[in-house]
Amino acid sequence: MPSDKSIFQPDQKLARSAYVSTFQQYEESYKESIEHPENFWGNVAKQFHWETPYDLSNFNSFNFDISKGPISIKWMEGASTNICYNLLDRNIKNGHGDKIAFFWEGNHPDDYSRLTYRKLLEEVCRFANVLKQHGINKGDRVSFYMPMVMELPIAMLACARIGAVHSIVFAGFSSDSLAERMNDCKAKLLITADGAWRGEKLLNLKKICDQALDKAEELGHHVETCIVVSHIKRVTAPKEELVDDFSVDMRDDRDFWWHDEMEDAEPSCYPEWVAAEDPLFMLYTSGSTGKPKGVLHTTGGYLLYASTTFKIVFDYKPNDVYWCTADIGWITGHTYVLYGPLANGATSVMFEGTPFYPDNDRYWAVIDKYKVSQFYTAPTAIRSLMKFGDSPVLKHSLETLKVLGSVGEPINPEAWLWYYKIVGKERCSIVDTFWQTETGGHVITPLPGATPMKPGSASFPFFGVKPMLLDEGGKEIQGEGEGYLVFSQPWPGMMRTVYNDHKRFESTYFSKFPGYYCTGDGARRDADGYLWITGRVDDMLNVSGHLMSTAEVEAVLTEHTRVSEAAVVSRPHPVKGECLYCFITPNQNEVFDKKLVDELKVLVRERIGPFAQPDVIQNAPGLPKTRSGKIMRRVLRKVAVNDRDVGDISTLADEAIVDQLFANRP
Ligand code: WTA
Repeated sequence: MPSDKSIFQPDQKLARSAYVSTFQQYEESYKESIEHPENFWGNVAKQFHWETPYDLSNFNSFNFDISKGPISIKWMEGASTNICYNLLDRNIKNGHGDKIAFFWEGNHPDDYSRLTYRKLLEEVCRFANVLKQHGINKGDRVSFYMPMVMELPIAMLACARIGAVHSIVFAGFSSDSLAERMNDCKAKLLITADGAWRGEKLLNLKKICDQALDKAEELGHHVETCIVVSHIKRVTAPKEELVDDFSVDMRDDRDFWWHDEMEDAEPSCYPEWVAAEDPLFMLYTSGSTGKPKGVLHTTGGYLLYASTTFKIVFDYKPNDVYWCTADIGWITGHTYVLYGPLANGATSVMFEGTPFYPDNDRYWAVIDKYKVSQFYTAPTAIRSLMKFGDSPVLKHSLETLKVLGSVGEPINPEAWLWYYKIVGKERCSIVDTFWQTETGGHVITPLPGATPMKPGSASFPFFGVKPMLLDEGGKEIQGEGEGYLVFSQPWPGMMRTVYNDHKRFESTYFSKFPGYYCTGDGARRDADGYLWITGRVDDMLNVSGHLMSTAEVEAVLTEHTRVSEAAVVSRPHPVKGECLYCFITPNQNEVFDKKLVDELKVLVRERIGPFAQPDVIQNAPGLPKTRSGKIMRRVLRKVAVNDRDVGDISTLADEAIVDQLFANRP
């Protein structure tokens, strides 16, 4: 393992041609972006179309200090624009109508297609007209539960074109989760597909939506319309026999096929000019109290930030082909599959499948097929591919690659080095991008031509971002040290509120340290000023890049009639990064058996989604509580890794419980 001292310089050739090609250049631009944000971002704004121009003398305003009034963040207030117009019409006017916007690569290698900017605009306009026909107006919320098919970006941009707010729910969430989210945002319309393949698994998405629509009804919310893409029949089935049993129910008064609706729709649609601070989309993220938060992003600032981070962090040049493997259901897919690339007129690959189908060299095969130059994925994917050794990678040339990105969780140096040496041939820069659903785009990241890389460090702030480390008392830690990672001023792409709950926005992010946006992550600064993210400081955990809260899983476990109490902690996992380790106290006179464990696993899958399934569920005759009744989670974390060095437990009400917990480990 390398020490902090091992530094990897960007490749000379890459550095010479990069937008930011020296560290000094980065530092100069950074200083300008912090001291004169209106100049810095005003320059970016020039390249876009504003129907009502922005005012440079009143470019942005904010209040981060709750003691001085409500938290507010505003950029270019008073200006108006349309993001879809900027992504499509503007690029077409600039002569890029015939450029490929997306290469679509299906789950099966025989399924692929492409879409130019011009064709994309036509499809977007058609669907915008369909939405209008179904009564969707500016400000209405539209929920999505979609596989990675071209209709997904088409429908998102159609929403943006008419000023509707998209709310995408990753199609791995359960029907309960989808219902809760549709109810929270009072969605008028839901877009889904009949089904999708993930590898050799066939998912019946429409069936999950039917259940979710019924459950939303039970919660008191009626979703008026559901539009369904017919996908299964047009793709190659990895297992024909599964298709024979596949069927969807369509309800006459509510459900419509996408292709029927599109048939007579007009291919043009005038964009709705919206205010810079009008909402563009909301996206739910886990909250430490359990209830998901609808993170709200607005239009103007998000456009500037998505486009600039995409261009600079990936050093995207006009002839490059870029590929981000994230599902659009997560923020990474919003900003770096859709908005960032299209704002730059880029050509991207959009991939429906998995890294392991039909073989575990699929990623590398796709990179060569489309001559990908920037590849962006998650540490959990890298670790799961490392397990197969180097040969699946070495079968492919990968010679077009120049920048490799990582996102979602800290990347361990071993995985970093494998990515750098085996995939990137020591020629590509690695950008370890730290950010959050809330930040809208990268906030701490190396720049590929400028930043000497340290494996495992997200390194330095992006333009406009001012990170600080605070101690428990809120005092700033200067120089080397470790503390809470906070930001002291806004950048254009950060969230503006929690949908319908501004109080929660203020209490979650701005109450711990007045005057600062608190990320919920810890970080360390080394002697060279590099930042190292140390992980969540709250009760959140990160399983394969999916953020969830221990509280939400505990709430599900205690729903079971045989369970009296539950406590969930995170345990390190070699591939997933972290996994769920659950302690269950059964009700009196109930036994803890395999049946209970299985039922609990099913319950978590049903309530949250398959990715939240616990790795371990252990019997806990009692939980280690202090005399005031607080669960001592650090003891549970020690039990989870079988480390007897539990530290001081004298404040526990019953110390004997600790030995019992160790004895009960499965
Ligand atoms: C974690 C994903 C270390 C972090 C874009 C953050 C990371 C949470 C990194 C946000 C990274 C993301 N290094 N940790 N490069 N990127 N994280 O909202 O804990 O799904 O707070 O956004 O993921 O997860 P979210």
